[in-house]
Amino acid sequence: MAPKITVIGTGYLGATHAAAMAELGFEVLGLDVDAEKIARLSRGETPMYEPGLQELLRRHVEGIEGASGRLRFTRDWAEAADFGDIHFVCVNTPQKQGEYACDMSYVNAAMDSLAKELRRPALVVGKSTVPVGSAERIAARIAALAPAGDGVELAWNPEFLREGFAVADTLHPDRIVVGVRSAHAEKLLREVYATPVAEGSPFIVTDFPTAELVKTAANSFLATKISFINAMAEICEASGGDVVKLAEAIGHDERIGRKFLRAGIGFGGGCLPKDIRAFMARAGELGADQALTFLREIDSVNMRRRGRMVEMARDAVGDSFLGTRVAVLGAAFKPDSDDVRDSPALNVAGQIHLQGAQVTVYDPKGMDNARRVFPTLGYAPSALDAVRGADVVLHLTEWSEFRDLDPEELGAAAGRRILLDGRNALDAARWRAAGWTVRAMGRPQP
Ligand code: UDX
Repeated sequence: MAPKITVIGTGYLGATHAAAMAELGFEVLGLDVDAEKIARLSRGETPMYEPGLQELLRRHVEGIEGASGRLRFTRDWAEAADFGDIHFVCVNTPQKQGEYACDMSYVNAAMDSLAKELRRPALVVGKSTVPVGSAERIAARIAALAPAGDGVELAWNPEFLREGFAVADTLHPDRIVVGVRSAHAEKLLREVYATPVAEGSPFIVTDFPTAELVKTAANSFLATKISFINAMAEICEASGGDVVKLAEAIGHDERIGRKFLRAGIGFGGGCLPKDIRAFMARAGELGADQALTFLREIDSVNMRRRGRMVEMARDAVGDSFLGTRVAVLGAAFKPDSDDVRDSPALNVAGQIHLQGAQVTVYDPKGMDNARRVFPTLGYAPSALDAVRGADVVLHLTEWSEFRDLDPEELGAAAGRRILLDGRNALDAARWRAAGWTVRAMGRPQP
């Protein structure tokens, strides 16, 4: 019989993983301690905006008409422990308040609550991004707490999904990494991932520390790539070069590749910034801090880009923001997401607001979250409304909706036709043809 699966924690990772497991044909029980989240998911509603996820939930959540019924949700640990052969732990590991290190309290609490109820053999699989060494510690803790004793085993299976592509990345992962301590654990995980493996996803078996490190190493590499091209943007700005052409040209070298070389206001979100910081903190604990001091530089290049955007906006309106109106297009940390965690766009909007400008923000999906984080900014119901009367327009999250805007129509509404492209994603020639002055990061002004 196919193993029954639970998914502990129903945020981005957990909600998507639970729905994907049901899609692959498994019986799935999702658990969260948040009653409201459970109520929403049980109605087939997603706790966040993620393309395709709502449809996937509705295809499987028990009680929804036409659904397979393979997916349901609970808050009851004993029920989850009794139900599952495999328990995927998908809770959040945010950055600690006032520190670089990662906050393991949610993972620790979830592992403890589950372990205490495990009265029958089970495989507990950690998916959360954790500091290397955590799995070994957690395995010992589970062994001490679980009533089923030796019958309970731990594995680590990092997750690489990108927001905005979470469903596709989960159903068709570009690799599956499992850190295991027994052939039995490997066999169970091969069963879980049989479909994507049959479709060609590589299945990589490692020990615990390597599995934990694969995730932080991958995110550090991605952050490094982005900060590399943003450092080149700084040099282009100083020398009159064009970073977009530069990225295109070096990207043709297959060893470098074109992806993740988009210069702009840099990376944000719930993963890259906190993961590189937690990685540095962990290296320090291990006495290997020198190996990762370069990540500090990656972080500062990234944060400098936000400051640079603020400077460009200040230059565009004169010497000071006082009494000026600034329109900001984009609040989410990237398009196709409503996530504003450590969003460069919202950070820039906030800095400009704090320097005295009247800032009006529009984002296709991120408005509610942005308002919660930054209630003092102005919010408009459309790009056109945000731009009305603005002295300068900032394009800070590259939603496709913004590429389709009509520069003529926006020009008629704006106070002045000045556009700053913080993502190098708009067709500058089109905007210039409509009378706009366009400046982009790391690109010369014609
Ligand atoms: C990332 C990893 O890609 C994913 O594998 C991991 O599981 C979680 O962290 P995500 O946070 O969803 O995913 O975003 P990602 O697509 O990596 O983008 C991160 C940030 O980098 C965004 O703010 C994006 O705008 C920025 N970015 C990306 C750039 O500034 N330039 C680029 O070329 C690419």
